[in-house]
Amino acid sequence: MKEDIEKILIKEDEIKAKTEAIGQRMTHEYKDRFPLVIGVLKGAMPFMADLTRAIHAHLEIDFMDVSSYGNQMVSSGEVKIEKDLDSSVKDRDIIIVEDIIDSGLTLSYLVSLFHHRQANSVKIVTLLDKPEGRKADIVPDIVGFTVPDEFVVGYGLDYAERYRNLPYIGILKPEIYRGS
Ligand code: PRP
Ligand code: MN
Ligand code: MG
Repeated sequence: MKEDIEKILIKEDEIKAKTEAIGQRMTHEYKDRFPLVIGVLKGAMPFMADLTRAIHAHLEIDFMDVSSYGNQMVSSGEVKIEKDLDSSVKDRDIIIVEDIIDSGLTLSYLVSLFHHRQANSVKIVTLLDKPEGRKADIVPDIVGFTVPDEFVVGYGLDYAERYRNLPYIGILKPEIYRGS
């Protein structure tokens, strides 16, 4: 598996340190607010698991799974709900946890949806931000690392469903996704 990685972009201990720092900040921000922390499947799974354990305050967790219609995300950003939340977001303080923001279309949809469902507040925490990919006007509240416009995998991020279990973020060798 690691022979498919061209370069390690963010090491395991760097992710760990950053997650602790974000958790500490959120511990203060959400003290006594009982936020609903929503992980976006599947990519956010490892970050969600580590971040929620770094927030030392009461919180509730839930998951949502969305996908784009067809193969490519249409420019309208219309997405299909594959799995909806178990809980209501009405009057809740929502924290959306993502592994990466690229075009921003997924989050643009989710943020509007939660506002429409009358959430009290909606904040976005993402481990990675790829600003060069942006098509929708989405600005995350907390970003772990800004990444260049490269094919990154690991720590939740996949290529064809692989590499999600790598403990670090790496750049995939182009020959892997070029299929040579
Ligand atoms: C990836 C990633 C984000 C989204 C970001 O998920 O995990 O959820 O795309 O892209 P965007 O900003 O351009 O909308 P994907 O739909 O690949 O599903 P996955 O998490 O199951 O891999
Ligand atoms: Mn995802
Ligand atoms: Mg994916």
